[in-house]
Amino acid sequence: MAGALKIGIAGLGTVGSSLARIITGRANELSVTCGRAIEITAISARDRSRDRGIDLSGMAWFESAEEMAARADIDVLVELIGGAEGPAERVVRAALDRGLHVVTANKALLARHGVELAALAEKKGVLLNFEAAVAGGIPVIKALRESLTGNRISRVYGIMNGTCNYILTRMEKEGLSFQDCLTEAQRLGYAEADPTFDIEGNDTAHKLAILTTLAFGTQIAADEIYLEGISNISIEDIEAAADLGYRIKLLGVAQQTDSGIEQRVHPTMVPRDSVIAQVDGVTNAVAIESDILGELLMVGPGAGGDATASAVLGDIADIAKSRPGEQRVPVLGTPAAALEPYRRARMRSHEGGYFIRLTVADRTGVFASVATRMAENSISLESIVQRASSTAPATEAKTIILVTHATTEASVRNAVAAIKAEDYLVGEPQVIRIERPKAF
Ligand SMILES: NC(=O)c1ccc[n+]([C@@H]2O[C@H](COP(=O)([O-])OP(=O)(O)OC[C@H]3O[C@@H](n4cnc5c(N)ncnc54)[C@H](OP(=O)(O)O)[C@@H]3O)[C@@H](O)[C@H]2O)c1
Repeated sequence: MAGALKIGIAGLGTVGSSLARIITGRANELSVTCGRAIEITAISARDRSRDRGIDLSGMAWFESAEEMAARADIDVLVELIGGAEGPAERVVRAALDRGLHVVTANKALLARHGVELAALAEKKGVLLNFEAAVAGGIPVIKALRESLTGNRISRVYGIMNGTCNYILTRMEKEGLSFQDCLTEAQRLGYAEADPTFDIEGNDTAHKLAILTTLAFGTQIAADEIYLEGISNISIEDIEAAADLGYRIKLLGVAQQTDSGIEQRVHPTMVPRDSVIAQVDGVTNAVAIESDILGELLMVGPGAGGDATASAVLGDIADIAKSRPGEQRVPVLGTPAAALEPYRRARMRSHEGGYFIRLTVADRTGVFASVATRMAENSISLESIVQRASSTAPATEAKTIILVTHATTEASVRNAVAAIKAEDYLVGEPQVIRIERPKAF
C-alpha cells in the first residue's frame, strides 16, 4: 500500500471540525477505499483552547495557517477558513507555491482569484479541488468538469443558497412576511447575523460565476452578474404566484445566448409542477442542460458541516487515488490559459416570460391603459387579472397582475416605465422573471 496521504487542515469551524471527525472516525474504511491511509498531520485555527469535539492529539498545531502551508509535513492543504482575501488566500497561494495539492470549499476565493490560482496549480503540477464550493454536498463540479465533457451546455441554473430558499419556503407555507422568516432563520442558525450577502444574492452569484466558467469555458466573471435579492418579495407575490401555478425561488442562471452569456441571480417564478419548484427549505438543486445528455438535475444538501465535509472528503480521496504529478482534469475544466474571455449578454436582451404586479388607483380606464402600454411594447399577455389590493383599502386601490408570453427585458422595462409615468400607480411595480425548466 502507498504511504499515507498527509493532510493539513486550515480552519476547524463548522466544516473543518466535521471533516476532521469523519477522517479520524473512518480511518480504516478510507484507507481501503483510497488504497492508502489518510492522516491529518497538521491543523490550524485561531483559538487553540476551543473544544472542537475531536481528539487533536497527534496533529501538529500551527498558530499560523500560513506557517502550516509553508512548512508542515503535509501533501495536501485543506483550506476551510473562508473569505476572498486575507488568510485564506495567502494560505492557498503558499501551499500551491510549495507544490502542495489544495482542497477548498471557498467560493468567494475562487470567484475572485480562481483563474490565477488554477494557473498556479497547473504550473506546479498539483490539484486544486473545490467540489464543496458550489451547492455543498451536491457533486456538480465533478459533473461539469468531468462527466459532461464533450457536451455543449446551453443553460445551468439552480437554487444555491439555503438561507433564501428556507425563507421563501416558510413565507409560502406559513403565510409569514419576509422579515419574520428571516428572523426565524437567524434564530435557527440558517442565516447569518448580517444576512445581506445571502439575501441580496451575492453568495449565489459567487457560485454561479464558478459554474459559468466550468460550463462555458470562459474566464470567471463574478462582477458581471445581474443581481437582485429576495428582500422585496412580499407575501402578495407569493400568493399571486401560487394562484397562477408558480412558486418563487431565488435562482442563479447562466445561459448561452446569441449575444453572449447571461449570468443572472434573481427571484424567479418556476412552474409549480416542476421538480425544482418542489425543492424546499435549505436544500439546493442544480440543473444542467446540454446537447448530448439533455437535462440533468441534482438535488441535495447545499450546506452544513457534514454535507460540505462529504464533498471535501471526495476531493481528498481523488488526490489520494491520483498518481504523483498526474493532473487528470484541468482545475476549471478547461486549462486556465485556454479559457475564453467572458462575453456578457445585455440584460435588456434577456428573453422570457414575466410576472408584473401593479397596485393602481381604482378608476375607470386604468385596466385598459395598462393593457395598452403592454401592447405598445409588443408584449403579448398570457393573462391579466384585477383583484382587490391586500395592502390598500379596496375602495381606493386594486391590484393588476399580468403574466406575459416570452418577451424581452427591454420591452418590459419600457412598458413599466410608461405605466410609471401615468398618474394611477400606487407604490412600486413588482416584476419577477419566469424560468421554465426544459425537462423536469
Ligand atoms: N458552513 C457551511 O455549511 C459551508 C458550506 C459550503 C461551503 N462552506 C465554506 O467552507 C469554508 C469554511 O466555512 P465554515 O462554515 O466552516 O466557517 P467557520 O465555521 O466560520 O470556520 C472558520 C474557521 O477558520 C478559522 N480561522 C479563521 N481565521 C483563521 C486564521 N487566520 N488562521 C487559521 N484559522 C482561521 C476559525 O478558527 P476558530 O475556530 O479558532 O475561530 C474557524 O475554525 C468557507 O469558505 C465557507 O464558505 C461552508
